[in-house]
Amino acid sequence: MSDKPTILVTRKLPEAVEARLSRDYDARLNPDDILYSKDELIERTSGVQGVLPCHTEQFTTDVIGRLPEEVKIIANFSVGVDHVDLMASKDKGIVVTNTPDVLSDATAEIAILLMLGAARRAGEGEALVRTQAWKDWNPSFMVGTQITGKRFGIVGMGRVGQVVADRARCFGMEIHYHNRSRLTPELEKGATYHETLEDMLPVCQILSLNCPNTPDTVGLLNAERIARLPDGAIVINTARGVVVDDEALIEALQSGKLAAAGLDVFNNEPDIHPKYRDLKNTFLMPHIGSATTETRDAMGFRALDNLDAFFKGEEPGDRVA
Ligand code: 8YV
Repeated sequence: MSDKPTILVTRKLPEAVEARLSRDYDARLNPDDILYSKDELIERTSGVQGVLPCHTEQFTTDVIGRLPEEVKIIANFSVGVDHVDLMASKDKGIVVTNTPDVLSDATAEIAILLMLGAARRAGEGEALVRTQAWKDWNPSFMVGTQITGKRFGIVGMGRVGQVVADRARCFGMEIHYHNRSRLTPELEKGATYHETLEDMLPVCQILSLNCPNTPDTVGLLNAERIARLPDGAIVINTARGVVVDDEALIEALQSGKLAAAGLDVFNNEPDIHPKYRDLKNTFLMPHIGSATTETRDAMGFRALDNLDAFFKGEEPGDRVA
């Protein structure tokens, strides 16, 4: 029997990450990338000291309660940890880590893609070309919203939000933000801080959601708050679907209150609210914020760094519980 710690790796990870896992651990990999059911996930943790999951595995209070006592660490391959009950983990003495920083650039790229795609009607345009429905050109054909110089509001000015702001500055956008606390002037870089979201919304011609899923942010973008946005505003979401009240957003897109929305994350993925698909003014992506080769490798290595530290008896760098 190997004296290396046994790690359950719930999904198929990049080759280089799995190579390091297999070199340093007794790694239980998932080569066919099967999505484990709750019971299967729990069964597979038998004899395991650590789990390296993705956000696709839910570690609810019930699941945490049913994990064997040998499981000592959940080293997530994700920055978001809303799929893990941190309180239950803490109570059971299970360390939880995440992978911050390494996916900020990739996620910010998708935020900008969503902003441009929504503003310039990229989904509609691409469908016209692909389906041979593009027949002519006229001065009012496919006219969208120019983003250059617009007022851009960011909800959640953490690591990702700050990179999104930097990229938006390249378009001459005026940056506004709402965050639990105000950033230092060095990090703020001239952006306008709004202590309340209600204060910020009326200035946001484009609103980007970059906050984590917490009890305070569930349903944050609701009908009342959408009403405070300027008419013709654009909403983009690379955070989590639960931050948005789908019915309210769909209603605002249908009525023309909002010009468009660019969404990479949804409630109940991948079975998203079907009306998003029917709307012409949505630009939709399947949760690919961190989906680049560089970032997925870096996420895996970061999760491994956390495991390595833990099993050496050190404090993992990205401990969240
Ligand atoms: C990934 C994410 O899809 O890290 C996160 O929180 O939402 C994503 O970019 C996910 O991490 C994979 O587990």
